[in-house]
Amino acid sequence: MRVHVANHPLIAHKLTYLRDKRTDSPTFRRLAEELVTLLAYEATREVRVEPFEIETPVAPTTGIKLSSPKPLVVPILRAGLGMLEGMVRLLPSAEVGFLGMMRDEETLQAITYANRLPDDLSGRQCYVLDPMLATGGTLAMSLKYLVERGADDITAVTLLSAPEGIKALEAEMDGMHVPITLVTGAIDDHLNEKGYIVPGLGDAGDRLYGVV
Ligand code: URA
Repeated sequence: MRVHVANHPLIAHKLTYLRDKRTDSPTFRRLAEELVTLLAYEATREVRVEPFEIETPVAPTTGIKLSSPKPLVVPILRAGLGMLEGMVRLLPSAEVGFLGMMRDEETLQAITYANRLPDDLSGRQCYVLDPMLATGGTLAMSLKYLVERGADDITAVTLLSAPEGIKALEAEMDGMHVPITLVTGAIDDHLNEKGYIVPGLGDAGDRLYGVV
């Protein structure tokens, strides 16, 4: 797995305000969107393109456009939704799928509680959005699910990641033989005993949408 920390002062600046507990939900949502657009720029560095001919007012030239099939953006419900607008702002022609995964606390098996994805993902570049890579459990389940449906090129985009989560994700995806890239705004210090990223920003879903 390739891990890319998008190390840029504007990203660190926006992350600082996201971390600050005094930041209210409307501001948090706006900053999260802006931050994702900056991360999207890094995440799409290898998006597939093809040449096509245009004419400028002066001369013909060759430009590029996104190749088909178009990239697929997959926010993981619920908190990943807060990253969607920021991502599609940069990739307006991408298609959007949705995935809601949770762990059954009794069986510990992954359950897909919501799923709206194309049946066959082969040949598509998939961009998976999940703000917090904490234990790595949900993201690993989600990526495996996409691989089972044929995805062969996946980039996960997170606002923050914990070292423990990166390690776990690497271990889980190692045998899958699918190129996985992680683009993240920062790698924080550690996970606490409650599974929160430290220093982190708290519960991303609650800060985006309130406690429901
Ligand atoms: N999920 C969150 O929203 N925050 C954390 O710190 C960890 C997981």
